[in-house]
Amino acid sequence: MAINVILGDITKVSADAIVNAANTSLLGGGGVDGAIHRAAGPELLAYCRTLGGCRTGEAKITPGFRLPAKYVIHTPGPIWRGGDRGEARLLENSYRNSLRLADENGCVSVAFPSISTGVYGYPLDRAAAVAVSAVAGGLGECRSVRDVTFVCFDARTEAAYRAALDELGAAK
Ligand code: AR6
Repeated sequence: MAINVILGDITKVSADAIVNAANTSLLGGGGVDGAIHRAAGPELLAYCRTLGGCRTGEAKITPGFRLPAKYVIHTPGPIWRGGDRGEARLLENSYRNSLRLADENGCVSVAFPSISTGVYGYPLDRAAAVAVSAVAGGLGECRSVRDVTFVCFDARTEAAYRAALDELGAAK
């Protein structure tokens, strides 16, 4: 089992599944969501229209269409509202439910973006700590997923995820 951190564009990653930081409509948006829909092609939006949206912290799977990834797992992370509105649990749920769905679909490799730390305003260091601990815990329950990669779009995000991973290692 491995958890990796890379700097890059998740739409270029050929994992079995990439995760989309979506909104509850699942009908596209800006940020990584917009990039995934552009790269996957219009078939993705057509498919998403049939799904009836998704609750915050839950996850739904679609084909990857024109992406190198076989699947896209869409999960709306929480909007940051100060930290006392269940944000950490909801963010943890996004990672755990995405990983479980990947596992149920036989995926070996899964790539995540930094869910909720863009438009949704979740403080980066806190989000990174939740993300790595949720993934480390969730991987232990997976039968097929072996490799998880955090695909960070900028150096600041990459540094935060590396630090969170180091801290988790130190805590073991
Ligand atoms: N590859 C990897 N990471 C990316 C990419 C990419 N191609 N593009 C952006 N990021 P955000 P959120 C990073 O705002 O905070 C959308 O409109 C970005 O730099 O995409 O969960 C949805 O429809 C940041 O580090 O997602 C929702 O309405 C991270 O991805 C809302 O935004 C997440 O930023 C979700 O907000």
